[in-house]
Amino acid sequence: MVNSKIWLSSPTMHSNEMKFIQEAFDSNWVAPLGPNVNEFEKEMAVYIGIGHAAALVSGTSALHLAIKLAGVKRGDIVFCSDMTFSATVNPVSYEGGIQVFIDSERETWNMDPRALEKAFVKYPQCKCVVIANLYGTPAKLDEIRDICDAHGAVMIEDAAESLSATYKGKQTGTFGQYNTISLHGVKFLTVKMAIQNIVS
Ligand SMILES: Cc1ncc(COP(=O)(O)O)c(C=O)c1O
Repeated sequence: MVNSKIWLSSPTMHSNEMKFIQEAFDSNWVAPLGPNVNEFEKEMAVYIGIGHAAALVSGTSALHLAIKLAGVKRGDIVFCSDMTFSATVNPVSYEGGIQVFIDSERETWNMDPRALEKAFVKYPQCKCVVIANLYGTPAKLDEIRDICDAHGAVMIEDAAESLSATYKGKQTGTFGQYNTISLHGVKFLTVKMAIQNIVS
């Protein structure tokens, strides 16, 4: 019988996975960090074309750190993409902020710059915007960044789903003051693939 199940993302293993796992055990760098993580951070920063990268345990924790660094405090309004995975917006709640969802536009299905502009009229006190690039498609990042700058708001770009996608020739994950990617198993590139890409 034909297997009718359609997997969301079935991992693809290449040749070196077990070798790297064995090396990690043999050299006992499992905790807290080690040379592979340091190198991974460096190479990821070069690959994306950004000054620094810090590896955390998940995209969600990276977004949480970004929200903290952006200075979001209890009661602060944060503008967020309205069509995204919940991890884009959950960290706002962790810090006691209040999400105001900005509608999407038809071309990219991401945050609509016109709706964002309107939201700043209604909530001029907003100082942080979290924008996601859905399904690997970059949002209108230049326009959104310009609006954020004009209103003195920190832009956080959630590029969890768009590692390797470019916008106007520039890698996504570089447009915000803080940018996050995810290497979760269902993403376009997961750790091993990303490393291979970077190294090659
Ligand atoms: C848009 C978006 N943001 C954030 C995340 C969170 O990443 P992680 O699963 O690595 O915590 C995901 C996926 O899980 C996502 O699709």
